[in-house]
Amino acid sequence: MKALVLSGGSGTRLRPFTYSMPKQLIPIANRPVLEHVLQNIREIGVTEIGVIVGDRRPAIEAVLGDGSRLGVQITYIDQEQPLGLAHCVSLAREFLGEDDFVMYLGDNMLPGGVVAIAEDFRDRRPAAQVVVYKVADPRAFGVAEVAADGTVLRLVEKPQQPRTDLALIGVYFFTPAIHKAVAEIEPSARGELEITDAIQWLVSAGEQVGASEYHGYWKDTGRVEDILDCNRELLNGLVGSVQGEVDADSVLIGNVLIEPGARVVRSRIEGPAVVGAGSLIEDSFVGPYASIGKDCVLHSTHVDYSIALDGATVSRVSGVHGSLIGRSAAVTGVHSATRHHRLVVGDHTQVEVAA
Ligand code: DAU
Repeated sequence: MKALVLSGGSGTRLRPFTYSMPKQLIPIANRPVLEHVLQNIREIGVTEIGVIVGDRRPAIEAVLGDGSRLGVQITYIDQEQPLGLAHCVSLAREFLGEDDFVMYLGDNMLPGGVVAIAEDFRDRRPAAQVVVYKVADPRAFGVAEVAADGTVLRLVEKPQQPRTDLALIGVYFFTPAIHKAVAEIEPSARGELEITDAIQWLVSAGEQVGASEYHGYWKDTGRVEDILDCNRELLNGLVGSVQGEVDADSVLIGNVLIEPGARVVRSRIEGPAVVGAGSLIEDSFVGPYASIGKDCVLHSTHVDYSIALDGATVSRVSGVHGSLIGRSAAVTGVHSATRHHRLVVGDHTQVEVAA
């Protein structure tokens, strides 16, 4: 079996971050989403992985390289424009050959892994096996109607009036039967070749399509709230360890990971929390649920339930909560008699200040 990871697309909902980095590289518990994805694929014994990339290929390649660091072998496949998930399958036709494969959307997080679903597929080997998850509002997803025995009866992409509450998760298992379906479908109303339509084509052609319901934690990391929620979920499983330096005036509570070269000075860190390599935390309160990237500086600051990307600086600010702070961004509190806020805010940025 091979894997196809989809990491093209534009990520407009995550602006401004996606102006400078692909959304699939946003760190959750200090590791890019794509690394979590590749780890799940490795866990089901698949090591030959095709990664679909758009114009952000250089950034993705710089992080994942040839995959050897993660125990896999990556082939990059270029997609000039995001023409749809099924378009990605057709671009990967040569790479996939006549193998079965798992298609994994590069922005989907399933920290509990997909081992049981892979076993399901390998045992029964239907033409396609999708994964469904009960959601309150399925209109933003592909939606499935599934019989009691797990057979998929019908699939619709982002329906206005969903007939069930079963959303499609971005992990799909296919036999080579999918290639004919992909070749037969037409672009949808939003101009994309939808994988949902290709799988529906298989259902209509009488092929066997199964669904596994997922009961673990799942997030499509398309929005900042989802990323922070997912960060909390992953930090709940964190194993604490101190690999950097913590001075005698600091206190660590619960599961705290201090990466090599990080320094904690006169601070209190409440787990779960992670402080990235080379960062300095001074006179601050950090956590719970804080992921501080590499080479950050936190000074006289109180940060919880937040993510700071590499090189960020937060100085003299209390009450940073529910925040995602970009790479090398600086947030500074100043003592000002006029109580002005001085803001240099990039395009599509959202700032909430205490009124
Ligand atoms: O997250 C689950 C949902 O993912 C499913 O419920 C939907 O049925 C499925 O269509 C998909 O919907 P989204 O609208 O969320 O897909 P998105 O455009 O966010 O793309 C998913 C991933 O695939 C993302 O990592 C970007 C990548 N991608 C997307 C397109 C359209 C590509 O690499 N190439 C593309 O052409």
